[in-house]
Amino acid sequence: MKDKILNILKANRSEWTSGADICRRLAVSRTAIWKNIKNLKQAGYNIETQHRLGYRLVEIPDFLYPAEITAGLATKCLGQQVIHYHQENSTNEAAKKLARQGAEQGTVVVAEQQSSGKGRMGRHWHSAAGADVLFSIILYPEISLAEIPQISMLAVVAIAKAVEKVCAVQAGIKWPNDLLVNGQKLCGVLVEMAAEADRVRYVVLGIGINVNSLPLQWPEEIRSKTTSLRAECGQEVSRVKLIQAVLEALELLYDQWHQQGFAPISKLWRTWCVSQHCPATVKTIQGNYTGWIEGVSDSGALLLRMDDGRVKTFLSGDVSLAVDG
Ligand code: BTN
Repeated sequence: MKDKILNILKANRSEWTSGADICRRLAVSRTAIWKNIKNLKQAGYNIETQHRLGYRLVEIPDFLYPAEITAGLATKCLGQQVIHYHQENSTNEAAKKLARQGAEQGTVVVAEQQSSGKGRMGRHWHSAAGADVLFSIILYPEISLAEIPQISMLAVVAIAKAVEKVCAVQAGIKWPNDLLVNGQKLCGVLVEMAAEADRVRYVVLGIGINVNSLPLQWPEEIRSKTTSLRAECGQEVSRVKLIQAVLEALELLYDQWHQQGFAPISKLWRTWCVSQHCPATVKTIQGNYTGWIEGVSDSGALLLRMDDGRVKTFLSGDVSLAVDG
């Protein structure tokens, strides 16, 4: 009911809506309306109340509330269910728990802040409270374990498209799934999953995008290698619009992947990729390998020509481009 009242106030934004009108439209009592308006105010919505005039929505808070994300979201599945936390350890951990309990495909877990945000290769993912975008999506793809890396690659293409659409920032992909602007990291993707034998039970696709945070909010050790959308375009970016654009682009690519396989996605991925045909070091748990990046295979593996002329194939790892310094 809270969301229905909010939608009525939004549709009549900045105008007064009488309590009697809301009661009539929702067929509920005045007391019920009053209680829900109180809850909305507590959640940060600035709603004025005037005797005889009713209620007026003055300002929507900058939180990633489910009602804001789902309003006008043009997807069939992704983000139709959103779970919001002001503070959570890690949205990936919360999403994995929900997946184990059978949450619906496409459920999104979003947080304003993470206390133990997880990055790739055991690293910590830093974010500024209420400024960045941190969310995880629950998926149940019918794929084999070998196809898992393709999900993070299609996700990063969707994010690059969304970033371009929402704030005209042109980012580039560094294999496998980092998004960079001028060599500085804008976004990271962490895919986690559970499987039995070779059957994937669930996938959690975690996405962290630096949106409105600024250099002083980033730890010194990552400052020179990090950027945000606000730093790039000089103004605040709507986090809600960005999440919606990511979900919409992701759903289209996810459906295309199911219908046509990975080849068209990998073609698209290559057009956004900035880590091709250049010298690089690939760090893996087995060791570091230096050479020349030839490109990626049709299944998404990195192909590195090493100094002895052999081409080594990588399914995972961390790439440092020689130009990164
Ligand atoms: C990377 O190291 O590049 C991947 C970073 C992924 C961070 C996101 S933020 C939302 C989700 N929850 C987590 O704990 N991590 C991912």
